[in-house]
Amino acid sequence: MANKDTAILILAAGKGTRLKSSTAKVLHKAGGRTLLEHVIRACHPLGAKKIIAVIGHQAEKVADIAEALDVEVVLQQPQNGTGHALLVAKRAIGNAKYIIVLPGDAPLVRTETLRALLAKHRKGNAAATLLTAVLADPAGYGRILRKAGDTVAAIIEESQLAPEQRELNEINSSIYCFTSAQLWPALAQVKPDNKHREIYLTDAIAILSAKDGTVLAEIAPDAREALGCNTRADLAGVDRTFREWKREELMREGVTIQLPETVVIDPDVKAGEDTVLEPCVQLLGKTKIGERCVIKTGSILHDMVLGDEVTIEPHCVMTSSRIDDGVIAGPFARLRPETHLKKGARVGNFVEMKKSTIGEGSKVPHLSYIGDTKMGSKSNIGAGTITCNYDGFHKYPTSIGNRVFVGSDSTLVAPLRIGDGAYIAAGSAITENVPADALGIARGRQATKKGWASKKRRELAGANAHSKPAKAKRKKKR
Ligand code: UD1
Ligand code: MG
Repeated sequence: MANKDTAILILAAGKGTRLKSSTAKVLHKAGGRTLLEHVIRACHPLGAKKIIAVIGHQAEKVADIAEALDVEVVLQQPQNGTGHALLVAKRAIGNAKYIIVLPGDAPLVRTETLRALLAKHRKGNAAATLLTAVLADPAGYGRILRKAGDTVAAIIEESQLAPEQRELNEINSSIYCFTSAQLWPALAQVKPDNKHREIYLTDAIAILSAKDGTVLAEIAPDAREALGCNTRADLAGVDRTFREWKREELMREGVTIQLPETVVIDPDVKAGEDTVLEPCVQLLGKTKIGERCVIKTGSILHDMVLGDEVTIEPHCVMTSSRIDDGVIAGPFARLRPETHLKKGARVGNFVEMKKSTIGEGSKVPHLSYIGDTKMGSKSNIGAGTITCNYDGFHKYPTSIGNRVFVGSDSTLVAPLRIGDGAYIAAGSAITENVPADALGIARGRQATKKGWASKKRRELAGANAHSKPAKAKRKKKR
C-alpha cells in the first residue's frame, strides 16, 4: 500500500561525539553499508510521499548518499537537538498528514516493522506511536513511562531518570509515527530544559499525552531493530547482527557455511545452491557465485563473478574479475581487476594476474605475474614466468595463442605476440614476436667443461691440506 499521506524524516545531522571519529556518525558502516543507507533502504518500500534527511555534520558527504537514493535533504545548522531537527524540516514536510521519524543511527529496523507501526498509528487514531523495545540492558536509552495498557505517558532520557525509574527496561528506539496536526503545536511548547540546552523530541511525548492525545507504543518484534549506534561497541554489535542475518539468508538458499560466525558476507552478495564456504572467507561487494563452488579458508573475493563448480583454494585475494565454470585457482592466487579465467583454466599458487584473459583449459600453475595479457586455450605457462608489461611510463599488451608452451622462468617483454603452438625455451628473455609453431629461445648458450669439477675438488683439497698441518699433528700426538 502506498502511503502518500505520509512523509518520512531521517535525523542524520549529529556528529556522533561518542564514536570519537572525524567521520559523521551516519557515514560509519555496519553490515557492509553506511548506517544512513540501511535506514533509507528500510523506508523506500513504504511508498511515502517523500523521504527527507536532516543533515548537518559533513553535510556534503551525507547529502551525496541521501540524494543518490532519492532522498531530499534539509540542513540543520547548528544541531540543537532531535526536536529542533524536526522544526527545521517542517517546511519540507509540508502538508503530510503523518510523519514517520527515524534516527539515522538505528540501521537494523525493517520495513515490515515500520509498516506495522504506521498501521497501528492509523488504526488507533493516535497523536504519536512509538517503536519501543525491551532490553536486558537499557543503559543509554530514553525509557518509556507507560500510562494505562498500550498508552504512553512520557519518555524519560537516561540523564533525567529518577532513581526508581532506573528499573524501566522498555526503551525508546527514536522511531516514531506522528500525526502532524498534533505534533507541531506540542513541539512548539518544548523547552531546552536539559544540560545540553537542546530541544528534545522526546519531550513532545509528555506534552501530547497530557493534552489527551493518544500516544501508543509498538514493541519491536526483534529488540535488535531498536538498537542505536552511539559507540564503536554499538557499531560492532550491529555489524555482527547484519552479518548473521546475511549468512542465514544464504544458508536458507542452500549454501553451506562452515563456522558461520567467522564468515563475512556483504549484503549484495549472491551464491548458488550447494556452494560451500569454508571458515574465515570474506565475500564482499557485489560478488556473485554459482552453484557447487567451494571457497576455501581465508579467501577474500570482492566484486567477483564465479560460474559453477569453481574451486578457490585457501588464501586467495580476488577483485573485480570473472571466473568461468570448473576453474581451480589458488592457493595464494591474486586476481586484480578485469581478469577473466575461462572454463577449466587453472591458476596456481603465488600467481598474480591483472587485466588478463586466460583461455579455456590454459594453466598458469606457479609463481607468475601475468598482466595485460590475452591467452588462448590449452596453453601452459611454466613456473616463474613474468610478463614485463610496464616500462615505467606505459603499459603494453602480451598476446599468447592456443597450445603455447612457455618454459619456466621466462620473461616476456611486452608488447609481444606468441603464435599458436609455439614453444619458449625455459629461462628465455623474449623481446621479439614468436610466430606459430616456432621455438623462441633467448638465453646464453651453455658451456660444459668435462672433468672440471673433479679437477677443482682436487685443487681445493690440496690447498686445504697445506693450510692446516699444525692442527693435524696435534691431533696425532694425543
Ligand atoms: C535518542 C533519544 C533517546 C533514544 C535513542 C535511541 C532524544 C533526546 N533521545 O538518544 O530517547 O532512546 O535516541 O537511539 O531524542 N540528530 C540530529 N540533530 C540533532 C541531534 C541529533 O539530526 O540536533 C540525529 C543524530 O544524528 C542521530 C539521531 O538524531 O541520528 C539521534 O540522536 P542521538 O544523539 O544519537 O540521540 P541518542 O542520545 O541516541
Ligand atoms: Mg543515538
